Amino acid sequence: MNKPSTPQSTDGEIITILLVDDIPEARENIKKMIAFEPDMKVVGSAGTGREGVAMAKELKPNIIIMDINMPDMDGIQATALITQAVPTTAVIMMSVQSDQDYLQRAMLVGARFFLSKPVSMDDLYNTIRSVYAQHKQLAEQYRTMASGAGAAAAKAAVTPSSGSDNNRAGHIIVVYSPQGGAGCTTIATNLASGLMREGIRALLVDADLQFGDVGVFLNLQAQSTIVDLARSVSDLDTELFDNIVVTHDSGLKVLMGPARPAEAFIVQQDPTAVATILQKIANHYDFIIVDTGRHMDETLGALFDIASKIILVATPTLAGVKNVRFVMDEFDQLGYTTDKTVVVLNRVPQDRNLQKFAIPTEKIAKFLKRPVEIEIPSDELTALTAMSKGVLIVAQRDRSRSPVKELMQLADLIYTKMMGSDTATEAKQQEPTRSIFGSKLFGRTN
Ligand SMILES: Nc1ncnc2c1ncn2[C@@H]1O[C@H](COP(=O)(O)OP(=O)(O)OP(=O)(O)O)[C@@H](O)[C@H]1O
Ligand SMILES: [Mg+2]
Repeated sequence: MNKPSTPQSTDGEIITILLVDDIPEARENIKKMIAFEPDMKVVGSAGTGREGVAMAKELKPNIIIMDINMPDMDGIQATALITQAVPTTAVIMMSVQSDQDYLQRAMLVGARFFLSKPVSMDDLYNTIRSVYAQHKQLAEQYRTMASGAGAAAAKAAVTPSSGSDNNRAGHIIVVYSPQGGAGCTTIATNLASGLMREGIRALLVDADLQFGDVGVFLNLQAQSTIVDLARSVSDLDTELFDNIVVTHDSGLKVLMGPARPAEAFIVQQDPTAVATILQKIANHYDFIIVDTGRHMDETLGALFDIASKIILVATPTLAGVKNVRFVMDEFDQLGYTTDKTVVVLNRVPQDRNLQKFAIPTEKIAKFLKRPVEIEIPSDELTALTAMSKGVLIVAQRDRSRSPVKELMQLADLIYTKMMGSDTATEAKQQEPTRSIFGSKLFGRTN
Protein backbone atom coordinates (compact mmCIF):
# COMPACT_ATOMS: atom_id res chain seq x y z
CA MET A 1 0.00 0.00 0.00
CA ASN A 2 2.91 2.37 0.45
CA LYS A 3 4.23 2.59 -3.06
CA PRO A 4 2.00 2.85 -6.07
CA SER A 5 3.03 0.57 -8.88
CA THR A 6 4.50 1.93 -12.10
CA PRO A 7 2.02 4.16 -13.92
CA GLN A 8 0.18 2.53 -16.76
CA SER A 9 -0.82 4.12 -20.00
CA THR A 10 -4.47 5.11 -20.14
CA ASP A 11 -4.60 4.72 -23.93
CA GLY A 12 -6.05 8.12 -24.62
CA GLU A 13 -8.83 7.72 -22.04
CA ILE A 14 -9.58 10.55 -19.62
CA ILE A 15 -9.75 9.55 -15.97
CA THR A 16 -12.59 11.40 -14.28
CA ILE A 17 -11.93 12.38 -10.67
CA LEU A 18 -14.05 13.63 -7.78
CA LEU A 19 -12.35 15.34 -4.82
CA VAL A 20 -13.85 15.05 -1.34
CA ASP A 21 -12.21 17.14 1.37
CA ASP A 22 -13.64 19.62 3.87
CA ILE A 23 -10.65 21.98 3.47
CA PRO A 24 -11.09 24.09 0.30
CA GLU A 25 -7.31 24.74 -0.04
CA ALA A 26 -6.60 21.02 0.06
CA ARG A 27 -9.07 20.45 -2.80
CA GLU A 28 -7.60 23.35 -4.75
CA ASN A 29 -4.08 21.99 -4.34
CA ILE A 30 -4.96 18.59 -5.73
CA LYS A 31 -7.02 20.16 -8.48
CA LYS A 32 -4.04 22.29 -9.57
CA MET A 33 -1.75 19.30 -9.62
CA ILE A 34 -4.20 17.31 -11.72
CA ALA A 35 -4.69 20.21 -14.14
CA PHE A 36 -1.19 19.50 -15.51
CA GLU A 37 -2.09 15.99 -16.61
CA PRO A 38 -3.85 15.63 -19.97
CA ASP A 39 -5.33 12.19 -19.15
CA MET A 40 -7.04 13.31 -15.90
CA LYS A 41 -9.97 15.59 -15.25
CA VAL A 42 -11.51 16.79 -11.99
CA VAL A 43 -15.26 16.58 -12.60
CA GLY A 44 -16.42 17.73 -9.20
CA SER A 45 -15.44 18.58 -5.66
CA ALA A 46 -17.34 18.06 -2.43
CA GLY A 47 -16.78 19.65 0.97
CA THR A 48 -18.45 17.02 3.14
CA GLY A 49 -18.74 13.24 3.21
CA ARG A 50 -22.48 13.42 2.60
CA GLU A 51 -22.04 15.71 -0.37
CA GLY A 52 -19.32 13.37 -1.64
CA VAL A 53 -21.70 10.39 -1.59
CA ALA A 54 -24.39 12.37 -3.45
CA MET A 55 -21.94 13.60 -6.09
CA ALA A 56 -20.43 10.13 -6.53
CA LYS A 57 -23.89 8.74 -7.28
CA GLU A 58 -24.61 11.52 -9.74
CA LEU A 59 -21.25 11.82 -11.53
CA LYS A 60 -20.02 8.21 -11.28
CA PRO A 61 -16.36 9.27 -11.57
CA ASN A 62 -13.61 6.74 -12.23
CA ILE A 63 -11.69 7.83 -9.13
CA ILE A 64 -12.52 9.59 -5.87
CA ILE A 65 -9.81 11.15 -3.76
CA MET A 66 -11.26 11.08 -0.29
CA ASP A 67 -10.12 12.75 2.89
CA ILE A 68 -10.75 10.85 6.13
CA ASN A 69 -11.53 13.55 8.67
CA MET A 70 -14.63 15.49 7.76
CA PRO A 71 -17.23 16.96 10.09
CA ASP A 72 -20.56 15.45 9.03
CA MET A 73 -19.66 12.02 7.73
CA ASP A 74 -16.07 10.82 7.76
CA GLY A 75 -14.28 9.49 4.69
CA ILE A 76 -14.48 5.90 5.83
CA GLN A 77 -18.27 5.98 6.20
CA ALA A 78 -18.60 7.82 2.89
CA THR A 79 -16.36 5.26 1.16
CA ALA A 80 -18.42 2.39 2.54
CA LEU A 81 -21.59 3.94 1.07
CA ILE A 82 -19.94 4.79 -2.25
CA THR A 83 -18.36 1.38 -2.86
CA GLN A 84 -21.78 -0.19 -2.31
CA ALA A 85 -23.76 2.30 -4.41
CA VAL A 86 -21.24 3.08 -7.16
CA PRO A 87 -18.98 0.03 -7.55
CA THR A 88 -17.60 1.39 -10.84
CA THR A 89 -15.76 4.06 -8.84
CA ALA A 90 -12.44 3.39 -7.10
CA VAL A 91 -11.68 5.34 -3.93
CA ILE A 92 -8.20 6.53 -3.00
CA MET A 93 -8.06 7.53 0.63
CA MET A 94 -5.88 10.43 1.62
CA SER A 95 -5.02 11.37 5.14
CA VAL A 96 -2.39 12.61 7.54
CA GLN A 97 -3.22 9.59 9.67
CA SER A 98 -1.26 6.88 7.98
CA ASP A 99 -1.39 4.44 10.87
CA GLN A 100 -2.26 0.80 10.38
CA ASP A 101 -5.70 1.13 11.96
CA TYR A 102 -6.89 3.76 9.49
CA LEU A 103 -5.31 1.94 6.61
CA GLN A 104 -7.10 -1.29 7.53
CA ARG A 105 -10.45 0.39 8.10
CA ALA A 106 -10.17 2.20 4.78
CA MET A 107 -9.41 -0.98 2.91
CA LEU A 108 -12.11 -2.93 4.67
CA VAL A 109 -14.76 -0.58 3.38
CA GLY A 110 -13.39 -0.92 -0.12
CA ALA A 111 -10.80 1.84 -0.57
CA ARG A 112 -8.29 0.87 -3.24
CA PHE A 113 -5.30 2.80 -2.03
CA PHE A 114 -4.12 4.93 0.84
CA LEU A 115 -1.99 8.03 0.29
CA SER A 116 -0.38 9.93 3.15
CA LYS A 117 -0.61 13.72 3.17
CA PRO A 118 1.26 15.68 2.01
CA VAL A 119 1.43 13.87 -1.28
CA SER A 120 4.01 14.44 -4.01
CA MET A 121 2.88 15.06 -7.58
CA ASP A 122 4.49 11.85 -8.80
CA ASP A 123 2.86 9.71 -6.14
CA LEU A 124 -0.50 11.27 -6.88
CA TYR A 125 -0.29 10.72 -10.66
CA ASN A 126 1.14 7.22 -10.37
CA THR A 127 -1.49 6.18 -7.86
CA ILE A 128 -4.39 7.57 -9.88
CA ARG A 129 -3.23 5.82 -13.07
CA SER A 130 -2.41 2.57 -11.38
CA VAL A 131 -5.67 2.38 -9.38
CA TYR A 132 -7.63 3.30 -12.51
CA ALA A 133 -5.93 0.53 -14.49
CA GLN A 134 -6.46 -2.01 -11.72
CA HIS A 135 -10.14 -1.18 -11.30
CA LYS A 136 -11.00 -0.78 -14.97
CA GLN A 137 -11.86 -4.37 -15.78
CA LEU A 138 -14.04 -4.77 -12.71
CA ALA A 139 -15.77 -1.46 -13.37
CA GLU A 140 -16.61 -2.54 -16.91
CA GLN A 141 -18.05 -5.75 -15.54
CA TYR A 142 -20.28 -3.84 -13.13
CA ARG A 143 -21.42 -1.55 -15.94
CA THR A 144 -22.37 -4.48 -18.13
CA MET A 145 -24.23 -6.17 -15.30
CA ALA A 146 -26.08 -2.97 -14.50
CA SER A 147 -27.21 -2.67 -18.09
CA GLY A 148 -29.31 -5.82 -17.56
CA ALA A 149 -29.67 -7.16 -21.08
CA GLY A 150 -25.93 -6.76 -21.53
CA ALA A 151 -25.22 -9.26 -18.76
CA ALA A 152 -25.85 -12.35 -20.83
CA ALA A 153 -23.75 -10.99 -23.69
CA ALA A 154 -20.94 -10.14 -21.29
CA LYS A 155 -21.00 -13.64 -19.89
CA ALA A 156 -20.91 -15.17 -23.32
CA ALA A 157 -17.99 -12.94 -24.24
CA VAL A 158 -16.02 -13.86 -21.15
CA THR A 159 -16.70 -17.58 -21.00
CA PRO A 160 -17.83 -18.65 -24.42
CA SER A 161 -18.07 -22.31 -23.57
CA SER A 162 -19.27 -22.17 -19.99
CA GLY A 163 -22.94 -21.45 -20.78
CA SER A 164 -25.10 -23.04 -18.11
CA ASP A 165 -22.28 -25.39 -17.24
CA ASN A 166 -23.03 -25.74 -13.57
CA ASN A 167 -23.24 -29.43 -13.06
CA ARG A 168 -19.59 -30.25 -12.59
CA ALA A 169 -18.02 -32.65 -10.08
CA GLY A 170 -16.74 -29.81 -7.85
CA HIS A 171 -13.85 -31.63 -6.15
CA ILE A 172 -11.84 -29.29 -3.96
CA ILE A 173 -8.22 -30.40 -3.56
CA VAL A 174 -6.19 -28.45 -1.00
CA VAL A 175 -2.40 -28.62 -1.24
CA TYR A 176 -0.72 -27.92 2.09
CA SER A 177 2.56 -28.22 3.91
CA PRO A 178 3.43 -27.00 7.39
CA GLN A 179 6.96 -26.55 6.08
CA GLY A 180 7.79 -23.49 3.99
CA GLY A 181 9.36 -24.18 0.62
CA ALA A 182 8.31 -27.84 0.55
CA GLY A 183 6.87 -27.41 -2.93
CA CYS A 184 3.13 -26.68 -2.47
CA THR A 185 3.00 -24.09 -5.23
CA THR A 186 5.01 -26.29 -7.58
CA ILE A 187 2.68 -29.20 -6.89
CA ALA A 188 -0.58 -27.22 -6.95
CA THR A 189 0.20 -25.50 -10.25
CA ASN A 190 1.34 -28.70 -11.96
CA LEU A 191 -1.48 -30.76 -10.49
CA ALA A 192 -4.08 -28.31 -11.75
CA SER A 193 -2.53 -28.41 -15.18
CA GLY A 194 -2.11 -32.21 -15.10
CA LEU A 195 -5.81 -32.59 -14.31
CA MET A 196 -6.83 -30.61 -17.37
CA ARG A 197 -8.00 -33.01 -20.00
CA GLU A 198 -10.72 -33.06 -22.53
CA GLY A 199 -14.09 -32.21 -21.07
CA ILE A 200 -12.64 -31.44 -17.63
CA ARG A 201 -12.69 -27.98 -16.11
CA ALA A 202 -9.97 -27.22 -13.58
CA LEU A 203 -9.38 -24.07 -11.55
CA LEU A 204 -6.26 -23.16 -9.60
CA VAL A 205 -6.76 -20.92 -6.56
CA ASP A 206 -3.99 -19.05 -4.76
CA ALA A 207 -5.10 -19.16 -1.13
CA ASP A 208 -1.65 -18.39 0.25
CA LEU A 209 -3.15 -15.04 1.09
CA GLN A 210 -0.08 -13.19 2.29
CA PHE A 211 2.77 -14.53 0.24
CA GLY A 212 1.17 -16.44 -2.57
CA ASP A 213 3.36 -16.94 -5.59
CA VAL A 214 1.13 -18.57 -8.15
CA GLY A 215 1.40 -15.33 -10.16
CA VAL A 216 5.19 -15.57 -10.11
CA PHE A 217 5.21 -19.26 -11.04
CA LEU A 218 2.86 -18.75 -13.96
CA ASN A 219 3.99 -15.28 -14.91
CA LEU A 220 0.49 -13.93 -14.44
CA GLN A 221 -0.63 -10.53 -13.33
CA ALA A 222 -4.20 -9.84 -12.44
CA GLN A 223 -6.03 -6.63 -11.91
CA SER A 224 -8.76 -8.41 -9.96
CA THR A 225 -8.16 -11.01 -7.30
CA ILE A 226 -9.80 -13.04 -4.57
CA VAL A 227 -10.00 -9.77 -2.59
CA ASP A 228 -12.67 -8.50 -4.99
CA LEU A 229 -14.68 -11.66 -4.41
CA ALA A 230 -14.26 -11.57 -0.63
CA ARG A 231 -15.83 -8.12 -0.66
CA SER A 232 -19.01 -9.49 -2.16
CA VAL A 233 -19.25 -13.06 -0.85
CA SER A 234 -22.94 -12.82 -0.01
CA ASP A 235 -24.00 -11.76 -3.49
CA LEU A 236 -21.29 -13.42 -5.50
CA ASP A 237 -22.42 -14.32 -8.96
CA THR A 238 -20.75 -16.41 -11.60
CA GLU A 239 -20.37 -13.52 -14.02
CA LEU A 240 -18.32 -11.56 -11.52
CA PHE A 241 -16.36 -14.71 -10.73
CA ASP A 242 -15.65 -15.51 -14.37
CA ASN A 243 -14.32 -12.03 -14.95
CA ILE A 244 -11.97 -12.18 -12.00
CA VAL A 245 -10.48 -15.52 -12.99
CA VAL A 246 -7.46 -15.20 -15.30
CA THR A 247 -6.27 -17.65 -17.93
CA HIS A 248 -2.69 -18.88 -18.19
CA ASP A 249 -1.13 -19.45 -21.62
CA SER A 250 -1.73 -23.17 -21.12
CA GLY A 251 -5.46 -22.55 -20.80
CA LEU A 252 -5.47 -23.12 -17.03
CA LYS A 253 -7.95 -20.92 -15.14
CA VAL A 254 -6.52 -19.17 -12.10
CA LEU A 255 -8.08 -17.24 -9.23
CA MET A 256 -5.23 -15.03 -8.06
CA GLY A 257 -4.43 -14.21 -4.46
CA PRO A 258 -4.19 -10.68 -3.03
CA ALA A 259 -1.80 -8.40 -4.90
CA ARG A 260 -0.19 -7.24 -1.65
CA PRO A 261 0.28 -8.96 1.73
CA ALA A 262 -1.59 -6.08 3.42
CA GLU A 263 -4.78 -7.11 1.61
CA ALA A 264 -4.83 -10.59 3.11
CA PHE A 265 -6.70 -9.43 6.18
CA ILE A 266 -9.62 -8.25 4.04
CA VAL A 267 -10.17 -11.83 3.00
CA GLN A 268 -9.41 -13.19 6.46
CA GLN A 269 -11.93 -10.90 8.17
CA ASP A 270 -14.42 -13.65 7.57
CA PRO A 271 -12.56 -16.93 8.13
CA THR A 272 -15.09 -18.78 6.00
CA ALA A 273 -14.92 -16.35 3.05
CA VAL A 274 -12.57 -18.35 0.83
CA ALA A 275 -14.31 -21.64 1.60
CA THR A 276 -17.69 -20.06 0.88
CA ILE A 277 -16.51 -18.60 -2.42
CA LEU A 278 -15.17 -21.99 -3.53
CA GLN A 279 -18.31 -23.83 -2.47
CA LYS A 280 -20.43 -21.36 -4.39
CA ILE A 281 -18.55 -21.90 -7.64
CA ALA A 282 -17.60 -25.55 -7.13
CA ASN A 283 -20.28 -26.92 -9.43
CA HIS A 284 -18.79 -24.97 -12.35
CA TYR A 285 -15.53 -26.93 -12.15
CA ASP A 286 -14.56 -30.58 -11.91
CA PHE A 287 -11.44 -29.80 -9.90
CA ILE A 288 -10.52 -26.81 -7.82
CA ILE A 289 -6.90 -26.98 -6.73
CA VAL A 290 -6.05 -24.73 -3.82
CA ASP A 291 -2.49 -23.63 -3.07
CA THR A 292 -2.03 -22.59 0.56
CA GLY A 293 0.55 -20.96 2.82
CA ARG A 294 2.05 -22.76 5.78
CA HIS A 295 0.43 -20.61 8.45
CA MET A 296 -2.46 -22.43 10.09
CA ASP A 297 -5.40 -20.18 10.73
CA GLU A 298 -9.16 -20.37 10.61
CA THR A 299 -9.35 -19.54 6.90
CA LEU A 300 -7.15 -22.55 6.21
CA GLY A 301 -9.17 -24.62 8.66
CA ALA A 302 -12.38 -23.84 6.81
CA LEU A 303 -10.67 -24.90 3.58
CA PHE A 304 -9.53 -28.18 5.12
CA ASP A 305 -13.11 -28.78 6.23
CA ILE A 306 -14.60 -28.44 2.78
CA ALA A 307 -11.76 -30.21 0.95
CA SER A 308 -12.50 -33.46 -0.84
CA LYS A 309 -8.80 -34.26 -0.53
CA ILE A 310 -5.87 -32.67 1.23
CA ILE A 311 -2.47 -33.22 -0.32
CA LEU A 312 0.07 -33.02 2.46
CA VAL A 313 3.49 -32.19 1.14
CA ALA A 314 6.56 -33.25 3.10
CA THR A 315 10.25 -33.28 2.31
CA PRO A 316 12.43 -36.14 3.57
CA THR A 317 13.82 -34.07 6.43
CA LEU A 318 13.26 -34.42 10.14
CA ALA A 319 11.57 -31.03 10.51
CA GLY A 320 9.34 -31.58 7.49
CA VAL A 321 8.15 -34.99 8.57
CA LYS A 322 7.67 -34.05 12.23
CA ASN A 323 5.36 -31.18 11.33
CA VAL A 324 3.36 -33.23 8.86
CA ARG A 325 2.81 -35.80 11.59
CA PHE A 326 1.57 -33.03 13.87
CA VAL A 327 -0.90 -31.89 11.23
CA MET A 328 -2.13 -35.44 10.71
CA ASP A 329 -2.72 -35.88 14.42
CA GLU A 330 -4.86 -32.75 14.32
CA PHE A 331 -6.79 -34.10 11.35
CA ASP A 332 -7.39 -37.36 13.23
CA GLN A 333 -8.70 -35.46 16.21
CA LEU A 334 -11.04 -33.54 13.96
CA GLY A 335 -12.42 -36.82 12.70
CA TYR A 336 -11.14 -36.49 9.14
CA THR A 337 -11.09 -39.91 7.54
CA THR A 338 -7.63 -41.22 6.60
CA ASP A 339 -8.53 -41.25 2.92
CA LYS A 340 -9.07 -37.51 3.04
CA THR A 341 -5.30 -36.97 3.03
CA VAL A 342 -2.72 -37.94 0.43
CA VAL A 343 0.92 -37.76 1.50
CA VAL A 344 3.37 -36.62 -1.15
CA LEU A 345 7.10 -36.53 -0.60
CA ASN A 346 8.81 -33.80 -2.60
CA ARG A 347 12.39 -32.80 -3.26
CA VAL A 348 13.66 -36.33 -2.71
CA PRO A 349 17.42 -36.13 -3.35
CA GLN A 350 18.81 -37.98 -6.33
CA ASP A 351 22.42 -37.23 -5.62
CA ARG A 352 24.07 -40.07 -3.69
CA ASN A 353 25.91 -37.68 -1.41
CA LEU A 354 22.68 -35.99 -0.45
CA GLN A 355 20.66 -39.18 -0.24
CA LYS A 356 22.46 -40.25 2.90
CA PHE A 357 21.03 -37.23 4.71
CA ALA A 358 17.45 -37.89 3.62
CA ILE A 359 15.11 -39.96 5.76
CA PRO A 360 14.19 -43.15 3.92
CA THR A 361 10.63 -43.23 2.60
CA GLU A 362 9.68 -46.44 4.51
CA LYS A 363 10.66 -44.77 7.78
CA ILE A 364 8.60 -41.72 6.92
CA ALA A 365 5.55 -43.83 6.10
CA LYS A 366 5.92 -45.70 9.37
CA PHE A 367 6.28 -42.53 11.37
CA LEU A 368 3.29 -40.91 9.64
CA LYS A 369 1.26 -44.13 9.87
CA ARG A 370 0.24 -43.48 6.26
CA PRO A 371 1.67 -44.57 2.94
CA VAL A 372 3.67 -42.05 0.94
CA GLU A 373 1.64 -42.10 -2.27
CA ILE A 374 4.00 -40.25 -4.59
CA GLU A 375 7.70 -39.41 -4.32
CA ILE A 376 8.84 -36.48 -6.43
CA PRO A 377 12.58 -36.38 -7.05
CA SER A 378 14.52 -33.21 -6.51
CA ASP A 379 15.45 -31.47 -9.74
CA GLU A 380 16.43 -27.89 -9.13
CA LEU A 381 17.20 -27.12 -12.75
CA THR A 382 13.80 -28.25 -14.06
CA ALA A 383 11.93 -26.52 -11.23
CA LEU A 384 13.77 -23.23 -11.60
CA THR A 385 13.71 -23.21 -15.40
CA ALA A 386 9.95 -23.72 -15.44
CA MET A 387 9.41 -21.00 -12.86
CA SER A 388 11.64 -18.48 -14.59
CA LYS A 389 9.76 -18.99 -17.86
CA GLY A 390 6.32 -18.98 -16.25
CA VAL A 391 5.56 -22.42 -17.67
CA LEU A 392 4.50 -25.65 -16.01
CA ILE A 393 6.85 -28.56 -15.46
CA VAL A 394 4.19 -30.96 -16.75
CA ALA A 395 4.04 -29.01 -20.01
CA GLN A 396 7.32 -30.68 -21.04
CA ARG A 397 6.93 -33.02 -23.96
CA ASP A 398 8.91 -35.87 -22.49
CA ARG A 399 6.67 -37.15 -19.76
CA SER A 400 8.85 -40.15 -19.01
CA ARG A 401 11.45 -37.95 -17.31
CA SER A 402 11.50 -37.09 -13.61
CA PRO A 403 10.00 -34.99 -12.09
CA VAL A 404 7.48 -34.58 -14.93
CA LYS A 405 6.62 -38.26 -14.62
CA GLU A 406 5.85 -38.14 -10.89
CA LEU A 407 3.89 -34.89 -11.15
CA MET A 408 1.74 -36.49 -13.85
CA GLN A 409 1.40 -39.62 -11.70
CA LEU A 410 0.04 -37.43 -8.94
CA ALA A 411 -2.48 -35.85 -11.31
CA ASP A 412 -3.55 -39.29 -12.51
CA LEU A 413 -3.81 -40.58 -8.96
CA ILE A 414 -6.05 -37.70 -7.89
CA TYR A 415 -8.10 -38.00 -11.05
CA THR A 416 -8.72 -41.69 -10.45
CA LYS A 417 -9.43 -41.28 -6.75
CA MET A 418 -11.97 -38.55 -7.41
CA MET A 419 -13.51 -39.52 -10.71
CA GLY A 420 -13.45 -43.27 -10.08
CA SER A 421 -17.09 -44.33 -9.70
CA ASP A 422 -17.24 -45.12 -5.97
CA THR A 423 -14.87 -42.57 -4.53
CA ALA A 424 -16.20 -39.70 -6.59
CA THR A 425 -19.69 -40.04 -5.22
CA GLU A 426 -18.38 -40.53 -1.73
CA ALA A 427 -16.25 -37.41 -1.89
CA LYS A 428 -19.03 -35.30 -3.28
CA GLN A 429 -21.40 -36.37 -0.59
CA GLN A 430 -18.92 -35.80 2.19
CA GLU A 431 -20.26 -32.98 4.30
CA PRO A 432 -17.81 -30.54 5.89
CA THR A 433 -16.72 -32.36 9.03
CA ARG A 434 -16.71 -29.20 11.15
CA SER A 435 -18.04 -25.82 10.32
CA ILE A 436 -14.81 -24.27 11.54
CA PHE A 437 -11.66 -26.28 11.92
CA GLY A 438 -10.33 -23.47 14.08
CA SER A 439 -12.93 -24.08 16.76
CA LYS A 440 -10.84 -26.96 18.05
CA LEU A 441 -7.40 -26.11 16.84
CA PHE A 442 -7.49 -22.59 18.16
CA GLY A 443 -9.35 -23.31 21.36
CA ARG A 444 -12.51 -21.54 20.29
CA THR A 445 -15.81 -22.92 21.38
CA ASN A 446 -18.74 -22.34 19.11
N1 LIG B 1 10.93 -31.42 -6.87
C1 LIG B 1 11.64 -30.31 -6.80
N2 LIG B 1 12.94 -30.30 -7.11
C2 LIG B 1 13.69 -29.19 -7.01
N3 LIG B 1 13.22 -28.00 -6.64
C3 LIG B 1 11.93 -27.94 -6.30
C4 LIG B 1 11.07 -29.06 -6.37
N4 LIG B 1 9.83 -28.68 -5.98
C5 LIG B 1 9.93 -27.37 -5.69
N5 LIG B 1 11.18 -26.92 -5.89
C6 LIG B 1 11.69 -25.57 -5.68
O1 LIG B 1 11.62 -25.28 -4.31
C7 LIG B 1 11.28 -23.93 -4.08
C8 LIG B 1 10.03 -23.89 -3.21
O2 LIG B 1 8.97 -24.49 -3.95
P1 LIG B 1 7.49 -23.93 -3.85
O3 LIG B 1 7.49 -22.46 -3.95
O4 LIG B 1 6.67 -24.72 -4.76
O5 LIG B 1 7.20 -24.37 -2.34
P2 LIG B 1 6.07 -23.79 -1.36
O6 LIG B 1 5.79 -24.88 -0.39
O7 LIG B 1 4.94 -23.28 -2.14
O8 LIG B 1 6.86 -22.60 -0.68
P3 LIG B 1 6.28 -21.35 0.14
O9 LIG B 1 6.36 -21.76 1.57
O10 LIG B 1 7.20 -20.24 -0.22
O11 LIG B 1 4.87 -21.14 -0.33
C9 LIG B 1 11.07 -23.31 -5.46
O12 LIG B 1 12.25 -22.64 -5.82
C10 LIG B 1 10.86 -24.51 -6.37
O13 LIG B 1 11.31 -24.26 -7.66
MG1 LIG C 1 3.92 -21.44 -2.11
